[in-house]
Amino acid sequence: TSKDAEKAAIVSIWGKVAGHTDELGAEALERLFLSYPQTKTYFSHFNLSHGSQDLRSHGGKVLNAIGSAASHLDDLSGALSTLSDLHAYQLRVDPGNFRLLSHSIQVTLAAHFGAEFTPTAQSAWDKFLAAVSAVLVSKYR
Ligand code: HEM
Repeated sequence: TSKDAEKAAIVSIWGKVAGHTDELGAEALERLFLSYPQTKTYFSHFNLSHGSQDLRSHGGKVLNAIGSAASHLDDLSGALSTLSDLHAYQLRVDPGNFRLLSHSIQVTLAAHFGAEFTPTAQSAWDKFLAAVSAVLVSKYR
């Protein structure tokens, strides 16, 4: 698959996510917390029950950050620099958790955009989310 086709798949699916970031973000987080309960330890100050305002608002923030990354595919490190500092120096989230969130986001996309979330589109998203995660864990040491 060419780089251009991958970029097109990311931008096009993002266009469908954009108006629904709170709802889809909350779903991705709910999937994360139910399938990998150890990830809840970072969110002990949140109300994690289904449909909570905390899930919606944090889910929205996470997806909007991903959307902003999607429009800076050629400069992910620059676009995510502040978030990278936050996750490395303040939150100290174990790097292994990024794969789990990336997976939960992909399942959410598949559940909502099945027809368009083709194997090719998924592979592009998988690479994209891995690249975003790599930036967010890049300052750990
Ligand atoms: C905060 C994005 C992965 C834990 C945030 C914020 C954003 C964000 C946008 C809010 C920053 C602000 O308020 O200025 C992302 C993205 C991720 C990611 C794009 C990967 C694709 C993770 C993972 C965990 C995590 C894997 C842990 C399992 C947290 C926590 C906060 C936070 C605990 C602070 C929440 C609060 O108290 O408001 N993240 N994050 N993040 N993130 Fe991440």
